[in-house]
Amino acid sequence: MEYFNIIQALCRSALSNPSNATIHQIERLRDAFEKNGLTKEAKSLSGLLSTANSTFDMAPSRIQKSFIKWQGEKITSKTQIPVDKETSTPLAEIFFVEDLPADLPIFSENVKTAIESIVVEWKEFDKLADLNAQPSNTCLIYGSPGTGKTHLAKWLAKQIGLPVVLVRLDGLMSSFLGTTSRNIGNLFSFAAKHQCVLLLDEFDAIAKLRNDPQEVGEIKRVVNTLLQNLDSRKGIGFTIGVTNHESLLDPAIWRRFEVQLEIPRPSPEIMPGILKTFLSPIDLDEVELKFLSWCIEGASGADAQMLAKWFKRAYILDKESNLVSLIRRFALLNSGRIESKRRNIIAHADEELKSSLLNDDKYSFKQKDVALLFGITPSQLSKQLSKLKEIDKI
Ligand SMILES: Nc1ncnc2c1ncn2[C@@H]1O[C@H](COP(=O)(O)OP(=O)(O)OP(=O)(O)O)[C@@H](O)[C@H]1O
Ligand SMILES: [Mg+2]
Repeated sequence: MEYFNIIQALCRSALSNPSNATIHQIERLRDAFEKNGLTKEAKSLSGLLSTANSTFDMAPSRIQKSFIKWQGEKITSKTQIPVDKETSTPLAEIFFVEDLPADLPIFSENVKTAIESIVVEWKEFDKLADLNAQPSNTCLIYGSPGTGKTHLAKWLAKQIGLPVVLVRLDGLMSSFLGTTSRNIGNLFSFAAKHQCVLLLDEFDAIAKLRNDPQEVGEIKRVVNTLLQNLDSRKGIGFTIGVTNHESLLDPAIWRRFEVQLEIPRPSPEIMPGILKTFLSPIDLDEVELKFLSWCIEGASGADAQMLAKWFKRAYILDKESNLVSLIRRFALLNSGRIESKRRNIIAHADEELKSSLLNDDKYSFKQKDVALLFGITPSQLSKQLSKLKEIDKI
């Protein structure tokens, strides 16, 4: 059959991350082939479907089967999302499992191990249920902006196989403060009725409002409503709170979360991997990635993503400039993303930048690495450096 290899490739790619809808449509295609005597093609699709079904069974849906016994209705595109009565704006955004990210952000081994332990509890839901136990179902994720917290929360939901009901707490606060408690109540009862992960993003929004002396009484009521609702959700579904300002959270709120997971900014060991992922298909070598990581030390994963995006554009439009001059330009245009001391060093003359790189013990650049970055030979570099030392002596 003409173009079958393209159809097959399309199906294979769709089944690499299968949803019920994808499987159903490919089954329809297989049946249509069969009906029209295209047996070989139908067989080939059956093969693809059975591989996909076996991986699909091992992944989230297996957890979901047990979970369905445990909790409410399925959310569909027809499900009515609660709205703020005053403004009619929806109180939450729904992300279906197929729209959630399949890739975990790049974290250090110990953070990954901690995350894995949460997922394992859910994968072993049946075993725990047999012993009358449940997986941890409240998790507070905190850390600096742009470190991948919201992404991680969505990824966790995908692993569990449940859609996300994402609530931005600041959006929940009605300009008519009196309705905020009602909004919180409506939202929690919606979450209790449905199979979902309740993701409370920007969780600190309520805490921030406490600084407003005019609203003390009302804020107390809002915090109390939140606490009561968190309590009544104990043992139901999975609730994830995400915040950048953990210090603003009330200790009573902290206590409500069984798991408290801090996401650090990427370390110098992790950053090259993050940059490599975001820079793909541009393939920089190890030294170049280490150099870029050094330039943005202390930045977040989101900053690294921004650098990679900028860099890709510059790489395509400006083939003449080398990596060092590109990063100098980036530093000028992104002053908030590069720490000021480092920005100064980057802006310095080549010789000073070279010796700063060589003297940084954390990164241990070798002379041959620095020579490579500046497009010179190691012996040219050592001559330049000894000249610099002589000047220093004068
Ligand atoms: N460690 C990381 N590995 C890969 N990607 C990352 C990492 N950290 C952040 N990102 C990317 O940065 C972007 C922003 O991430 P996300 O929105 O999850 O951050 P956040 O911690 O929730 O930020 P904020 O606190 O500002 O809400 C996403 O595209 C995410 O994939
Ligand atoms: Mg976020």
